Amino acid sequence: MLDRDALQALISHCEAQDIAFISDEIYHGIEYGKKAVTALEISDDVYVINSFSKYFSMTGWRIGWMIVPESDVRRLERLMQNLFICAPHASQIAALAALDSIGELEDNLAMYERNRALLLKELPKAGFDKIAPPDGAFYIYADVSDLTNDSVALSKQILLEAGVAVTPGVDFDPARGHKTLRFSYARSTEDIIEGVRRLKSWMDSKKAP
Ligand SMILES: Cc1ncc(COP(=O)(O)O)c(C=O)c1O
Repeated sequence: MLDRDALQALISHCEAQDIAFISDEIYHGIEYGKKAVTALEISDDVYVINSFSKYFSMTGWRIGWMIVPESDVRRLERLMQNLFICAPHASQIAALAALDSIGELEDNLAMYERNRALLLKELPKAGFDKIAPPDGAFYIYADVSDLTNDSVALSKQILLEAGVAVTPGVDFDPARGHKTLRFSYARSTEDIIEGVRRLKSWMDSKKAP
């Protein structure tokens, strides 16, 4: 996560160069320890994108929001009316209910926290030991350069042979992602325990003489 100073430096640079600053804060609310800093704490002259897809567990419902400088509201309204008119009505009603379900959402957060701790302990035992504790969201990014140069092929092999879906790093980083994998832990703790058990036994089978 970017801390306040790093975010401030980026925003100041953009201001100096007359570049619009867009902050995608979709994972805010899913943090472990430090609280995420919003760009709006630093400047009003920024665009902040957010959604019900992550903290509110409404992926696929196609509903989110954008905070824009006052001077740009009308311009954005015109653009949005040409792109999508409005967010689906049913999704708007469901999102209102989600705002009243904070207890359930905080339970999800506690589950992510458990899953994160579990994977940070167990993934190294499976051989994925080049990892860093994530500050937020629900993914662990692993350097797998000692296993492969082709993260897509490795992901396919893990899916077919171990029965675990992992994401190749090239989805996020075309330059260095061929040596990285992303593990998601946004599932029940039982699923995560089973997933890591399969990963361990698959990695052991690769080591066997
Ligand atoms: C960083 C980030 N921004 C935006 C999105 C898109 O979210 P939505 O499903 O609300 O369009 C995602 C979804 O995976 C994401 O990870």
